[in-house]
Amino acid sequence: MAAEDYRPSRRQVLAGLAAGVMTGCPSAFAAGDREALRAIAAARGILFGSTIAAAQIRADDDFLDLVRRECAALVTENELKWGNICDAPGEYDFAGADAIVDFASANGLAMRGHTLLWYYRTPRWFRELPNAAAAERAMLDHIAAVAGRYRGRMRIWDVVNEPIEPAHGRADGLRGAIFADKIGPHYLDLAFHAARDADPTARLLLNEYGVEYDSVADDAKRRVILRHLERLKREGVPVEILGIQGHLEIGAKPFSARKLRDFIATVAAMGIEIAVTELDVVDAAAPGDIARRDQIVADEYRRFLEVMLDEPATRTVFTWGLSDRHSWIVRHESGENTWRTDGTVSRPLPFDAALAPKPAWASLAERLAGASRRF
Ligand code: XIL
Repeated sequence: MAAEDYRPSRRQVLAGLAAGVMTGCPSAFAAGDREALRAIAAARGILFGSTIAAAQIRADDDFLDLVRRECAALVTENELKWGNICDAPGEYDFAGADAIVDFASANGLAMRGHTLLWYYRTPRWFRELPNAAAAERAMLDHIAAVAGRYRGRMRIWDVVNEPIEPAHGRADGLRGAIFADKIGPHYLDLAFHAARDADPTARLLLNEYGVEYDSVADDAKRRVILRHLERLKREGVPVEILGIQGHLEIGAKPFSARKLRDFIATVAAMGIEIAVTELDVVDAAAPGDIARRDQIVADEYRRFLEVMLDEPATRTVFTWGLSDRHSWIVRHESGENTWRTDGTVSRPLPFDAALAPKPAWASLAERLAGASRRF
C-alpha cells in the first residue's frame, strides 16, 4: 500500500505514539511503521511542509529522503529573498530557487514561495533609491519578475513578511523600515495586487511573528494585524492567508491559549485562512539533559498546536526545518539570545540530527491526527 493511501485513525496514531515516543522505544520509529506527517495531515485536509535549501537538494542524502517522506510541500528558506538574489536592479540569480521548484515538481510536492518582500532582506540598492516613486516602481517590478517567473508553480506566496511593528510608533502600526517609510503605507495594498496580477492562482499570504504569546507587545501586534486585515478585506485587497510564524521559545513569555484562540477565530471570521508558517522551538533556556529538554520542547509544540489546529481555518503547517541537522537556530543564524550557553547543540525540530523522530514529532503527529477534517 502506498504511504499516501494509508489513513490511520486518530486512535491508531495515538497508539503508535504511546508505543514509541512515550516509552522512548526507538524501534517504533522505524520509517516503515511510522505514519508520514504529510499523510496524517492530508487525511484532515491539512497541508504539511517544511523548509528546503538548494544545497540540501544538491547533497541528495538521507535528509532529502526524510523530506520526501514527510512533506507534502516545501518552502524556500532563503533562495527567494530579494536581497539574496538581486544585487542590481533587474539582475536576478534564480539558480537556487529554480533547483528547489524543479525538485518539488519532480517529486509531486507543492511549493510555498518565501518571500516577495521582507524588510530584513532588501537589497542595498533599493535602500538607496532617491524617492518614493522610484522605490514603488522597483517593488512592483520585483514582484512582477519573481512571482511572474514562477507563475502557476507556487501554491502559496508569502507576499509580505513581517510588515507590522507597533513598537516603531507609526500611527498605522506598520513597520517603519523600510517599505512604509520609503514608499508609503499603501505599499501593502500594491504588493498584494501586484502578486495577484503576476500569478492569478497562487494563494496570497501575509506573514507575521510576535503574536504567539501573552505579552503587551504580542497584544499590540495582534490588535494592529486585525485592524489591517479588516481594512484590506474591506477594500478588496487579495490577502487570503494569515501566516503565523510560530518561532516558539521555552521560558521567554507567558502563553494564553484564550488570546491566541480568540485572535485566530477573529481572523477566520473575516474569511481569511490561517497557516503556521515557520514552526520551531528555541530551547536555550531548557535544561541540558536531552530527554528532559526534548519533552519540554514537545510540550511547547503541543500547547501551541492544540490552539492552532483546533481552529478549522488552519489548513497549512510548515516547520522551519525538519531535522536538527539543518536549522537556523542550530547554525546560530537566529538572535544570540536563542543560542545555548552550555556548549550543547540546540534541538528545535521534530527529528534529531540523525533523523530519528523526537517527542516534538509526537506532539506534531498527535495534534495533526486530532484535528477535525477540513473538507
Ligand atoms: C532565516 C533563515 O532560516 C536563515 O537561514 C537566515 O540566515 C535568516 O533568515 N523569520 C522569517 C525567515 O520569516 O525568513 C527567517 O529565516 C527566520 C525568521
